[in-house]
Order: sequence, then C-alpha cells, then structure tokens
Amino acid sequence: MTASDGPGLARSPGITYQQLLDADTHDVPEVLRLDHPRYLGSDDIPVTRYTSRAWHEAEVAHVWRKAWQYACRTDEIPEVGDYYVYEIVRDSYFVIRTDDGIKAYVNACLHRGRRLKDHDGRCSEIRCSFHGFAWKLDGGLQDIPGDWDFPHVKPEEWSLPEAKVAEWAGFVFINPDPGAESLHDFLGDIVDQFEVWDLERRYKQAHVAKVIDANWKVVQEAFCEAYHVNATHPQIMPYLGDTNSQVDIWENFARVITPGGTPSPLLDWQPTADEMMRSMMDVRHDQASPIELDDSADMRAVAAAAGRERWRAVAGDEWVDSMSDAELMDSIDYTIFPNFHPWGAFNRIVYRFRPNGDDHRSAIMECIFLAPYQGERPPPCSVHWLGDDETFTDARELGMLGKVFNQDLFNMPKVQLGLETTRKAGITLGNYQEAKVRWLHYKLGEWVERGRAEAGEVSVGLPGSESNGSS
Ligand code: FES
Ligand SMILES: [Fe+2]
Repeated sequence: MTASDGPGLARSPGITYQQLLDADTHDVPEVLRLDHPRYLGSDDIPVTRYTSRAWHEAEVAHVWRKAWQYACRTDEIPEVGDYYVYEIVRDSYFVIRTDDGIKAYVNACLHRGRRLKDHDGRCSEIRCSFHGFAWKLDGGLQDIPGDWDFPHVKPEEWSLPEAKVAEWAGFVFINPDPGAESLHDFLGDIVDQFEVWDLERRYKQAHVAKVIDANWKVVQEAFCEAYHVNATHPQIMPYLGDTNSQVDIWENFARVITPGGTPSPLLDWQPTADEMMRSMMDVRHDQASPIELDDSADMRAVAAAAGRERWRAVAGDEWVDSMSDAELMDSIDYTIFPNFHPWGAFNRIVYRFRPNGDDHRSAIMECIFLAPYQGERPPPCSVHWLGDDETFTDARELGMLGKVFNQDLFNMPKVQLGLETTRKAGITLGNYQEAKVRWLHYKLGEWVERGRAEAGEVSVGLPGSESNGSS
C-alpha cells in the first residue's frame, strides 16, 4: 500500500492510470484526464439492502417511481406509432413516437385496467384488446365502443397518464415522477464528458438479457469494480491493470477506468508479451486474431494500433485515427444512478440492471453493444433472452465476453445465498477500488431518505436507511 494522508487516499502499487496516459501514442481526450476521487466513508453497508422486502419496497417507492431510467434507443421506435414496452418491478410503461415527439404512457387501460401493450410494435391508435377503448397517439381518448353506456366518462379527463420522457445520446429515458428535475439537469456533466464519443451515432448491434438469482445490486456491483478480477477472472491478470483502476465519483454518475495492456500489480511474476497477448485474447470481445509482439514492445501501443486497423473499414479513418491508445484499450465503465452503464470511448458495451419483476432476490442483467457504422444506420437488433439453462457463452454475439460473464455469473447467486445466511450486519468495502459501490449505496440512501421525508412517512425502522445513506 502506498503512503496516504487520510482515508480513501491510498492507491495500489504500480503505474497510475494518469501515468499510463502520459505514454499514449495519440492525444488523449480531456475527459480521461479528469481525476475525481471522492471519499464517502468506510462504514459497512447493511446486508438488508440486498435481502429485505422493506428495503425493496422503499426502492420501488423512492427510486423506481422517481428516477430517470433508460427505456430504449430512439432508433427502436423510428416511425410515428412505433412503441416499446419498458417494465420495472410492478410497473409497465410504453414509449411511443407521436407527431409531437416521443411520449411514454402508463401501460394500463382506463376502463378496467388491462395492460394496453403486451409487446413492442407499431400502431395507428392505442386500442385495448379487452373491450376496445381506444386512444390517439397523443394520449387523448378516441373511441368508446357503445359510448351510450358511458355518459359519465368525460373525454377531456380520460387522456392516458404519462411519464416524463427525454433523450440523450440516442437513449430514451423515462421518469414516472411528474415533478422530477429535467434529464439534462440530472445527468449534469456526463453530457459534456460523452461529447467526444457521440453514442448517438451508434447502432444496437447486440442485446443479450438474462435473469440471475440475486438482488439487482449484487449483479450490478459485480460490474462496478475490477478488484474481483484476481479471484474471479485470473486468466486476464497478465493483460489487465485491475487494481490500478481509476475511480471517479461525481453527483449522479461515476466511473471506473481499468487499463488494458498493462499487467495486474497483484501478479507476483512478470508476464511476457506472449502471455499478455494470450490473456487479451481471453477477454477482448473485439479481438479477432492474435497480433505479433516481442517482449520489448509497448503492449498498449501495439494492441491499440491493431485495434485501429481492425475498425478502420467499419468506423472510418477519421474515427480510428482520432482514438488514443487509452480509448481503444481501456474499460471506461460509467454508471448513471441508479442502474445504467454506458461505457465510454471505443468499447461498445452498455449494461442495465434491474429487479426481475417484483422479486428482490432475482435480477435482469442486460448487455448491449452499440457499434459504430459508416453510411446508413443498420437496424437495431432485438433482445436475445437467455433461458434458465443457458449461459452467456450461448450468446455467441458477445464473443469472449460471454466466458468472462459466466465467471461473474458463477458468483452472483452465491453472493445472495451468503448474504441471506451471514451473521455479519453489513458488507465491508475497500475505500478506493470499491468506491463506486459505496457511491451507489450513498445515492440509494439519499433517495430513500428524501422520498420518505417528502411523503411524510414516520420512521418504520427501515434497516439501513440512516440519514447519511452510506451506513
Ligand atoms: S379493459 Fe380496456 S377496454 Fe376494457
Ligand atoms: Fe467480472
């Protein structure tokens, strides 16, 4: 451990991320030069946040009914009348393109409640399949079959209830809370930080979803630090500077940048270039073939150069030649509270994690690839749901990433089982490497406390919602 003057200041031995950037063969964008650690305490996180029904209900009321959340991509509803169903816990919404832009409606008929849309699709009106009540795309009531029997229904009061909708970078977000702050204000500086990477100009190349037997935060948090690499993915240690990750925390978003092409400081031997190359082949989902490398070569520079050539035909000269080694080699995993992970730079990855319906002991994990393209935008792919008996290697579109995910998948249900049986009241986090996990809990605590205060709820002794939110 390096010297430190206070909690949260110690760093792993080995080269820092900023020092790696100094050796880049290309100009590094300013956004990677930001170094923004934030220490939010060292207290344990209550185990009940993963196990208790009361905490789950608190998340439903004060997070899932209040927060901006990613629903779909704009190009998944390209034409007027196209709609996409988004479900979260017990709630269902559909986002629909109208003449006045994209809207989101609560997915329930105002007659006797039937869900209006069962699947994604296209329509010219929103007609319920139970008794045929219909609404216009703008949400206004259009038709009641046999309306002589409903003189008490006032059409002007029968518009479909809406959720707020906003777009950023080709993503459609919804917010069920009519009083929510704007998406733009909520996102804050991440809008500027992603300007160089323009995720709007990507298309959805892959989308894999799987139900996992663990609380959604157990699953999400396995993707919020690189500390687990040494035990869970030891095969990639020669290639990955796991504990040299840089962890940055802002208000509603955070990031972990894990450098590739530099060995783990936890290895007690120095890998050869060949060993690093083999290790890279075990993780890079984009790596089609090995590259020539001798022991004196700079692995990051050589592998990045190979990456530029591999993507040149697809993404164009300007795009690949502007990409620094860092942008081609590193895992730049951003998280927007509460559950959305768009990766920065070259990496195509986007993750989303949410509860599996109303079950707080299972979660839906999704991995989306947003790929660059030249010319006309290719159509977005549909969701590939993996069955209970399938693993991520059954999603061949994920390439080598499937094997890495399976290693994560192996742990997750066992983390949940351990949390259910442990006699320890809380989980313990590293101050720096696991700071993004702490930030997520800090924010969760903040939202739940604020929501309870606004609702005038008296304390019900909800475990783990102390006012600082971090304990
Ligand atoms: S429930 Fe929708 S028309 Fe009756
Ligand atoms: Fe992992």
